[in-house]
Amino acid sequence: MKQIVFCLPGNEALGKDIIAGLAAETGHAETRRFPDGESYVRLLSDVKDKQAIVLCTLDRPDDKLPMLYFLCRLLKDSGATDITLVAPYLSYMRQDKAFHPGEAVSSRYFAAWISSFIDRLITVDPHLHRIARLEEIYSIPCESLHAGPPLADWIRENVSQPLIIGPDSESEQWVSKVAAQCNAPFVVLDKVRSGDRSVRISIPALDAYKEHTPVLLDDIISTAHTMIETVKLLKQAGMKPAVCVGIHAVFAGEAWEELKESGVQQIITANTILHRSNQIDLAKLFIGALK
Ligand code: R5P
Repeated sequence: MKQIVFCLPGNEALGKDIIAGLAAETGHAETRRFPDGESYVRLLSDVKDKQAIVLCTLDRPDDKLPMLYFLCRLLKDSGATDITLVAPYLSYMRQDKAFHPGEAVSSRYFAAWISSFIDRLITVDPHLHRIARLEEIYSIPCESLHAGPPLADWIRENVSQPLIIGPDSESEQWVSKVAAQCNAPFVVLDKVRSGDRSVRISIPALDAYKEHTPVLLDDIISTAHTMIETVKLLKQAGMKPAVCVGIHAVFAGEAWEELKESGVQQIITANTILHRSNQIDLAKLFIGALK
């Protein structure tokens, strides 16, 4: 079956490598906004009887979803056999329960909607907290790729004597694996979130690790408050400046500047969301999953 890959705006760099690795056809579509802000999509490639792959990372999803939806509907109407959405960052995973009476459990609503117009989903380390597997909320085949091994490679090659630090008890499962892969000790923090931008963190005693370089590892850096608070506590504990490693570089608002100014040694992310901090290339993971 012939594969044709469409990259929505902002996904071209990663898309180029994926297309080359798959030796797939590049899909062409004109995408733009009307003067009133509505989305316009026009298909320029023949997709009949081809397997369509749509690459669209879903940070800032509300700006991207109409375009994605229109393109996928158009691909099907134009004869594509099936559509695989590659969303390196999968949005709407964190509101996975009603924390207050009357709240929408948006992860479920979003999953049901996405499942209605694509046939298969590939993503990287989705924020699975109270949901164990994507298939619990998506009704299509889903594949979650893991950035842990490439992250561990980067840490092993670039940080001397790392101490891996996970943000909360839920992270222990994957943070402990990364630590084992770089042959480093790890600790996890105790975190309580009391609002969008406020987190309370407690760190365990770190006296035994004074010679280590703290490496803060998190799946998402959004407001960066989790990392900024941790950096503050590490400084107070007399630790060396931290290296911050995140998978998904969401960086909401001024988060990037604020984290940079908090006294960290380095901030590194994977290229699931295009950002200047990207240093860990996951193209090979996607190629492997799509082959
Ligand atoms: C939460 O459970 C996640 O693993 C991250 O720790 C969280 O999303 C980070 O958010 P922020 O950067 O806004 O503190």
